[in-house]
Amino acid sequence: MSSRFRSQDWFGRKDKDGIIYRSWMKNQGMPTDMFDGRPVIGICNTFSELTPCNAHFRDHAEAVKKGVLEAGGFPVEFPIMSLGETLLKPTAMLFRNLASMDAEESIRGNPIDGVVLLTGCDKTTPSTVMGAASVGLPTIVVPGGPMLNGRYKGQLIGSGTHVWKFDEDMKTGAMTQEDCEYAESCMSRSIGHCMTMGTASTMACMVEALGLTLSGAAAIPAADSRKKVMAQLSGRRIVQMVKDNLTIDKILTREAFENAIMVNSAVGGSSNFVIHLMAIAGRIGVDLHLDDFDTLGSKIPLLLNLMPSGQFLMEDFFYAGGLPVILNELKDLLHKNVITVTGKNHHDNVKGSCECHDAGVISSIKEPLKPEAGIVVVKGNLAQNGAVIKPSAATPALMQHTGRAVVFESIEDYHARIDDPNLDIDETCVMVLKYVGPVGYPGMPEVGNMALPKKILEKGIRDMVRISDGRMSGTAYGTAVLHVSPESAIGGNLALVQNGDMIELNVAKRLLHLHVSEEELEQRRQAWAAPPPAASRGYVSLYIQHVMGADKGADLDFLQGSSGSEVTRDSH
Ligand code: FES
Ligand code: MG
Repeated sequence: MSSRFRSQDWFGRKDKDGIIYRSWMKNQGMPTDMFDGRPVIGICNTFSELTPCNAHFRDHAEAVKKGVLEAGGFPVEFPIMSLGETLLKPTAMLFRNLASMDAEESIRGNPIDGVVLLTGCDKTTPSTVMGAASVGLPTIVVPGGPMLNGRYKGQLIGSGTHVWKFDEDMKTGAMTQEDCEYAESCMSRSIGHCMTMGTASTMACMVEALGLTLSGAAAIPAADSRKKVMAQLSGRRIVQMVKDNLTIDKILTREAFENAIMVNSAVGGSSNFVIHLMAIAGRIGVDLHLDDFDTLGSKIPLLLNLMPSGQFLMEDFFYAGGLPVILNELKDLLHKNVITVTGKNHHDNVKGSCECHDAGVISSIKEPLKPEAGIVVVKGNLAQNGAVIKPSAATPALMQHTGRAVVFESIEDYHARIDDPNLDIDETCVMVLKYVGPVGYPGMPEVGNMALPKKILEKGIRDMVRISDGRMSGTAYGTAVLHVSPESAIGGNLALVQNGDMIELNVAKRLLHLHVSEEELEQRRQAWAAPPPAASRGYVSLYIQHVMGADKGADLDFLQGSSGSEVTRDSH
């Protein structure tokens, strides 16, 4: 072995500490030569039965281990906090930063030379990448893969996307409870994460676009045997990355982030992409701004026809050729002065493996599905630091709309009154939800696509303008203005909106304006009182004191940047 790796600071010691570091590991049946200086590869596993999207990761870890051993490395699997999107209350987002701290400290504090991140469900990808970025070792991501297509009564159904549709159908009586329970089984019929272009698929495409996965990794369904092959190959590759000292900071350059933004637009990725990419950039020290998402992404055409923006699902994306096809279509736009985990750029990676096999699923850049996609950033007196909207999932006719505000002061207020037949609302109104931002909820839940009032749904209307400081599930759709910043709980103007105020959304002009004079707003500001803190102890208390705005990625302020991988003191 030519170079000495950091794991030798543990295993290579000839003193008392060396005995301690090696001997206890040997109780797992590890031969002495495993400690001879070969690359030690950490396999960071977000497996949990409470994270159903990641519940198959024991198999993936075994596949990675095979690859590591084949390449002459020493694989060590370790668990970190797993964040399941569907079960964890009040929202998995509240714990993204906590899980990132777990990943960071677990990687740094242990004898690991390179790390493989097993990720799937929405928050497990950004949290582990954030943690790894703050350490700076060679890092490769193995995305866990989407579920197989859902099918119900002959119709393609997508995770999440159809939850909103079924909910609407239940409300209008078009679907019974029995139908619904059957449809639930049809929707989640295999291992894997949401198979729409929701946040999990968005994150998988993000890490591939950033260059953190082997080529083509994102779209392979979890149940496809090629997913395990990808895991095994990633295990082989990380060993070489350690030998080459191909650290994560060499991959995550400003250009890589710009590539990821362009790719996200082309695939119709989730609005959550913004918040997670910003947080990762903050860790690696890349200067990324909310406006970059609009400037770089909003003119990119939509190429991928997947729900919620389109018709198909991830399995179809895989058969059509997966992300390499998109990367190839965008080749004249993407930066080439980047390197991926292969040591080469995308252009060289995808050569010979980027033929589109289904033009109905992936369209060419010459004939895109929509000429412009991506995330638009709107600003104005209602969102001085910005808010985001995803036009490809919204109603074109509402892209320029002025309407009367119907205000909900909390999520409980919304639930209590939304279906009240006497609620003074019609489809021209703008629904406003307060106190669902990072501090306000706390944790910024996915409630921004509030369901419409029953009486409006019954008219056959399915969309209205909705504004909040919360997020929206990547699997959802609708004209939802999200991530309003500064948020209401810290005194952003959103807190000052009253019923009857007129609100103007103009996506073409990037405007979100509250038609209330500054004098009137100042009077309301004087009368406003911040809500009491959501917690006085524990992690939640730490979180609300330190969380930054959505426009900055909602990371904790003291987690920005990197502490490197060095640990100078021993444990005994
Ligand atoms: Fe886990 Fe959608 S709930 S990916
Ligand atoms: Mg989600």
